[in-house]
Formats: sequence, C-alpha cells, structure tokens
Amino acid sequence: MPATVVVGLQWGDEGKGKATDLLAESVSWVVRYQGGDNAGHTIVLGDEVFKLHLVPSGVLHPHITPIIGNGVVVNPRTLIDEMAMLSARGIDVARVRVSAAAHVIMPYHVALDGAMESRLAGDELGTTHRGIGPAYADRAWRIGLRMSDLLDASGLRMRLERVVPEKNAVLAGTYGLQPFDVGELHELAVEWGRRLARHICDTTRLLQEALAEGQHVLLEGAQGTLLDLDHGTYPYVTSSNPVAGGACTGAGVGPLQIDQVIGVMKAYSTRVGAGPYPTELDDETGRHLLERGREFGTTTGRRRRCGWFDTVSLRYAVAVNSVSSIMLNKLDILSRLPEIRLCVGYLVDGSRSDTWPLSVDALARAEPVYETFPGWEAELSGMRSMEELPVEARAYVDALEEAAGVPIALVSVGPERTQTIVRAGPGEPADRTARMQRTRANAA
Ligand code: IMP
Repeated sequence: MPATVVVGLQWGDEGKGKATDLLAESVSWVVRYQGGDNAGHTIVLGDEVFKLHLVPSGVLHPHITPIIGNGVVVNPRTLIDEMAMLSARGIDVARVRVSAAAHVIMPYHVALDGAMESRLAGDELGTTHRGIGPAYADRAWRIGLRMSDLLDASGLRMRLERVVPEKNAVLAGTYGLQPFDVGELHELAVEWGRRLARHICDTTRLLQEALAEGQHVLLEGAQGTLLDLDHGTYPYVTSSNPVAGGACTGAGVGPLQIDQVIGVMKAYSTRVGAGPYPTELDDETGRHLLERGREFGTTTGRRRRCGWFDTVSLRYAVAVNSVSSIMLNKLDILSRLPEIRLCVGYLVDGSRSDTWPLSVDALARAEPVYETFPGWEAELSGMRSMEELPVEARAYVDALEEAAGVPIALVSVGPERTQTIVRAGPGEPADRTARMQRTRANAA
C-alpha cells in the first residue's frame, strides 16, 4: 500500500481535516509535511469539536501514528499545549512523532513576524503572526534550530549565542523592540527538549520502513496551492510548499512512492489575508457564504474573504498537484442562493484569458468571466446520495468536475463524517475521467 497526498486546491481552509478523517480507517500513518501552527484543522466527531494547529488530525484515531515531518516549522510551546489539550480529552499522544530535522519556531521569529507586518502598515501580507516566514527564512539562511538541537544543551547554547545577537540587532535596531536574552531562551528551549524528547526521531526512516512494509501513509498538506511559496500568489503566500510535491521534500518520500493525490476544495472560495482575489464578493452573497459557511479563521478568528468558485485556478491546481481525484466540500452552504456563478475565465486588460497568470499584478487586474447556474432552495445537509440532491446542485457539481478534468469522488454536505456523499466507487473515477476526456476531445 502506497502513499496518498491530501492537498488544498484553493487558499487553504478547504476542509482537508475532514478528508483525512474519512480516509483514516485505511491508513496507518498521517504526516504533516509543511507549514506550522499557522494552520487550523477543525474536526467534528459526534458532539466533540477538535481544533488542531500542529498535531496531524490522524491523532484522533488510535491505530494511526501521527507524524510532524521535517518540512514543518514547529513551535514547541504550541505542540506541548496541543498535546496536553488532547491528553486531557482522553486522546493518547504518546504516538506523536516529530522529525528531528524539523525547524523550531523561536520567540524571536514570532516577534519578527509581528514587527515586519506592522512596519508594512497598510500593505501587510496578513500573516498569522506565528513566526512562520522568519523561521523558514532562517532555515534557508542555515541559521535555524532543528528539533534535534533541543536535545543537545551545549550545542544549542553555541547556536543561540551565534544567532540571537543578530536577531536582537534587527529587533532593537530596526523595530525598537526588546532584545532576547540568550540564557533565558536556552533554558526555555532545553525544557522544551526535555518535554518532547520521546517524540523526536528520524521520521523519514520511520516512513520509509512503513512504506517498505506496505503500510498506507497519508501525507496531509496545510494551507493550499494558491498560498504555495512558488506556485501561489507571491508575495501573498505562506513560506512553504503546500503543493503535493512539497510532500516529497517535507516528509522524505520519493515522487514514485506517491500513488494518489486527493485535491480538496470548497464549492465556493475563501481567502484569509491580503492578495488578489478576482472572484471576491463584497455583497449580500459574500455575507451569505461568510455566515452560513462560518468562514472565520481557526487560528486567528479573522473573517475570511468569500467569493465564487474559480475554475481558472482549479485547472492550475489540478495540474501542479497532479490531482487524481477531488473531494468537494460545503456544497450545502450554497442552498438558498437564487443563482450561482462560476468563474470560467478572466478578462485581463480587455483580453480573455483562461490560464492562471504568473504575475500577481495581472491577477489583480483580472475581471472574472462568469457562467451562471440556477440556485436551489433545499437544504442538503441530510442528503446522502447524488440522486437525492436537487438537479441544480448536481448540474453545478458536474460543471466543476468538467472544469477539473478529474473525478469529484466525494461531496460533503456538512461537517460530520457521515454528511458525505460517495460519488464514485473504486474503478469509476478512471471511467469518468476517460468519458470526460472523450467529451472534451469531441467538443474540440
Ligand atoms: P503565514 O503563513 O502566517 O506567514 O501567512 C501568510 C499568508 O498565508 C497569510 O495570507 C495567511 O492568512 C495565510 N495562511 C496561513 N495559514 C493559513 C491557513 O491555514 N489557512 C488559510 N490561510 C492561511
């Protein structure tokens, strides 16, 4: 049994936690491969709601080993608190493993993130202020601390003595903030190491051994394709690679070990933070999506910007992730809208374009070209098959699938695990893809 990647096809918050949760029965390992505690996964299990930022959502299943891979930046404080919260709610966290090679988010990273954002006043990126960018920057600069460093008190002291004066010079000199004390940071980090020691190990080896034994590994992306450092709307992106390829570098798994890539998307779009967003709605429909969809950030509580679904970015995301099938979430949120619009292309400086622009400036100038679909009144949350859905909802799902060019295998109509419609059985997705390819070829 091979590895599966779950990846967000939009700007994050697509409901990847639910996808992971649904697949959990069949997997032995769930791995986070990038990002840090900027992420937020909300999982609803019966009456219980779990909000996780760092620990992979697989932790809720006793048969799964949750892994925080080398590509993640770890705030040890958050990890310790999150594991304590889970323990207090009866979840066994002894299984959690953290890569010794994962980088550590230090308090100066958090301070720098906030300071850099305030300095941009009016032109902020809208980061989560969790220190993500500065921690990844130090990794690239080769001055970061890794989880293994927390276990080596004397080596740690040396590294801190080298890096902290440099950070203090910027914090105090550029931003007028309080400097950090090496001794205090050292004490804190040694204590983190002491508390996390039994979780820190070589996770790449663990995963390679598991794959060699034929165990199923699920690689869980945080954020989404359009926030990818290389493939997203730079500079309005996060500092890691949420795309499926990031799973290889962020977990130590080779491309040929990945067997399927499940793309997760919502039936509309949202974005948190700054950056161009052609289909954004600042009207009654936007409010409908915000309120019915409860589109408030799990990590920061910020209102998410809401808008229509964009098939231009969908086609791009399907391609750069080599998506094999899709989970469509929150279809139920669209009920009671008189009409539903689907962005099928852009007008950029008066010319029609159907491709995702590399330049963020071009994206900012893009005006969406919409196809309009009739809405539906019925509430979908109790429906469990495509046949039960209103014909208008089915037509909308078919249009999304046609645009994606890969099968929409799962349709979610509510946050609960049971509120899911399995659209394609094993074997069907390939048939449907072939059918769609034929349709397109005939049309051309
Ligand atoms: P950072 O990852 O905190 O540096 O933030 C960079 C950008 O990514 C900002 O626009 C954030 O709002 C966005 N972002 C980071 N994490 C998430 C997430 O989990 N969901 C949605 N947006 C996110």
